[in-house]
Amino acid sequence: MQPSSLRAAPVEDRRIAVAPGQASLTGGGGQTAVWAYDGTVPGPTLRLRQHEPVRITVENGLDEDTTVHWHGIRLPNAMDGVPGLTQPPIKPGQSFVYEFTPPDAGTFWYHPHADSLVQLGRGLAGALIVEEREPVSVDRELLWLLQDWRLTKDGQIAPGFGNMMDAAMSGRVGNVVTINGGPPADQKVRVGERVRLRLANASLARIIALRFEGHRPIVVAIDGQPCDPHEPDGGRLVLAPAMRIDIVLDMQGDPSKRYAVTDDFYDSLAYSLANLVYDTGPPLRPHPLDAPLRLPANPLPAPDLAEAERQEIVLQGGMMGGGKLAGVGGMMGMGMPGMNGEAAWAINGVSMTGDGHAGMAPQFTLKRGTTCHLTMRNQTAWWHPMHIHGFSMLVLSRNGSPVPHRQWQDTVLLAPKDMIECAFVADNPGDWMLHCHVADHQMAGLMTVFRVT
Ligand code: C2O
Ligand code: CU
Ligand code: CU
Repeated sequence: MQPSSLRAAPVEDRRIAVAPGQASLTGGGGQTAVWAYDGTVPGPTLRLRQHEPVRITVENGLDEDTTVHWHGIRLPNAMDGVPGLTQPPIKPGQSFVYEFTPPDAGTFWYHPHADSLVQLGRGLAGALIVEEREPVSVDRELLWLLQDWRLTKDGQIAPGFGNMMDAAMSGRVGNVVTINGGPPADQKVRVGERVRLRLANASLARIIALRFEGHRPIVVAIDGQPCDPHEPDGGRLVLAPAMRIDIVLDMQGDPSKRYAVTDDFYDSLAYSLANLVYDTGPPLRPHPLDAPLRLPANPLPAPDLAEAERQEIVLQGGMMGGGKLAGVGGMMGMGMPGMNGEAAWAINGVSMTGDGHAGMAPQFTLKRGTTCHLTMRNQTAWWHPMHIHGFSMLVLSRNGSPVPHRQWQDTVLLAPKDMIECAFVADNPGDWMLHCHVADHQMAGLMTVFRVT
């Protein structure tokens, strides 16, 4: 595990180069050919200050078009990084200047939005942290940016991006998970200390469910947005692709023990991701802190549910039992789904395939300032982390039951057959994407666009 660069000077004006590189993902001296931001995987951690403008110039050193999307940041549409929809793609050898002022403090991330499956799958992702105006009272802050890789036996990125099995089923789940670009390792902690741990899942498709043996993580923010501090359901933190969770851990373990951090989302494949290992020095304080930490709220506009405009999106398609594709029906043609951008999935009967491109017609239009009450129904047999650009959504209910903790999310995980209701104020004009963040699903049709005028 590489140390994350925390509490560095805020970023105001910087350049990021996108280019092929090498990374030692598995330790032991082996190198994997990757694509990297500034030569590192993950890319450099960008630390911005809430309400302070930033300029980031992205230089494309790849042989193909790219863009950068600032995932979860509420910013002007032209800075959202979707080629064809919000900006022209950045051609090889060219650059693009992104300028925005982050309104919300929290844990965000950045990644390409061109050829997303391949570019993200080859390593292009980095953390974007927007600092609170006043420092939060924790003893230490840690970041774990999780990435999932499908590597060959000789440690190289496996070919076969976008094959039919991945596209129509769970997406390209890999075989190696890294923390901050390196193999899982020991996380040193001290008795009595209070740690804020920022978790971000930058995987293509792997859903991660973390348990901290012997410890009680308290969730203080989801997708960058502060929430009521609470213990996660069953002590398990579920991070679908693109999701972030900030937790507070009060280190009250027994220094002579090692505590496993495990991922058991795919039960049969549970594995230990890392260990908490105590320093043998004196405790940081005699008694652990017990007052919960509550992060200051971000300036999110409050939805007006009484006057809300209702919209519904229905997720369709994917492989069903017996190897049949379901739901997408007549629009699929005879080709293999997922190959050459063919559709395996649809939203409200429409398959928008590929990545951002010109001519993406909006599915619905909202008048600026209205509250949108959005219902998402998953008619498929698969999990989908549905992500909205440009907004955070207040999650109202899951399968008819109100969600217990008031939480805002930009990426909401729907289990098979789930129905989720959310709301947001359409205060930001432009054409915005709404898609599944399992990259294979997005590329094969689980994507749509809505307009705010
Ligand atoms: Cu993080 Cu449209 O993506
Ligand atoms: Cu996004
Ligand atoms: Cu999906």
